Amino acid sequence: MRKKIVAGNWKMNKTLDEAVALTSEVVNMVNDEVTGDVRVVLCPPALYLTTLRQYLPSGARIALGAQNCHEKASGAFTGEIAAPMLSAIGVQYVILGHSERRQYFGETNAQLADKVNTALANGLTPIFCCGESLDLRQNGDFIGFVKNQLTESLFHLSAEAFANIVIAYEPIWAIGTGLTASSEQAQDMHAALREHLASQYGAEVADNTTILYGGSANEKNAAELFACPDVDGGLIGGASLKSREFTNVVKAAR
Ligand code: PGA
Repeated sequence: MRKKIVAGNWKMNKTLDEAVALTSEVVNMVNDEVTGDVRVVLCPPALYLTTLRQYLPSGARIALGAQNCHEKASGAFTGEIAAPMLSAIGVQYVILGHSERRQYFGETNAQLADKVNTALANGLTPIFCCGESLDLRQNGDFIGFVKNQLTESLFHLSAEAFANIVIAYEPIWAIGTGLTASSEQAQDMHAALREHLASQYGAEVADNTTILYGGSANEKNAAELFACPDVDGGLIGGASLKSREFTNVVKAAR
């Protein structure tokens, strides 16, 4: 059985005080209100990870994730953060290949393959993002494009290593725009990606892989999106910055 996950990608938002308040509120609300077997992953700015760790209860339900890591494990890379540093402070997940990193920081599929390797080698679970632009959605082979992102960054992994990958399908045209993929569009892509995984790794690995949807998911549309058979939760941006709304999204993933 694959895991349900709702991850909050805070991006470059919140002061430390605000981050602590948001974390405490989410911890309390999730403890009080969420009964199902869904894992919550908070991905704050890296600067806050050490502090926020102290606000998380021990146990499996709420974990911390980083928003990025470097492809090398250490070295002369001023300003960067390495995977071993993250795992050493109790971080369990790392978002890799977010479309903003691809667009603004020029991350390529090949570079992301290296980041995935380094993350896995250091015990982090990559939340690997993929997704197409609006232009591709309207005029091109957008399913082929997204499948290729997985092929080039992930398919060098053994089936055993692949078992530690979480995928997040995030159509770029839906990120932060208020435009959400319809549940049908999300389901179609998720099913196509799962089929692609099955062709490489077999049906069992494909069935066990968590595939999240991201892109303007919120408390109003989450239940419909998460009800799709191949949508296993969400990677939530804007709606993860408010404790009430984020918890409501988590509840929709039960
Ligand atoms: P959004 O962002 O929910 O604000 O659209 C999602 C993401 O970029 O992960």
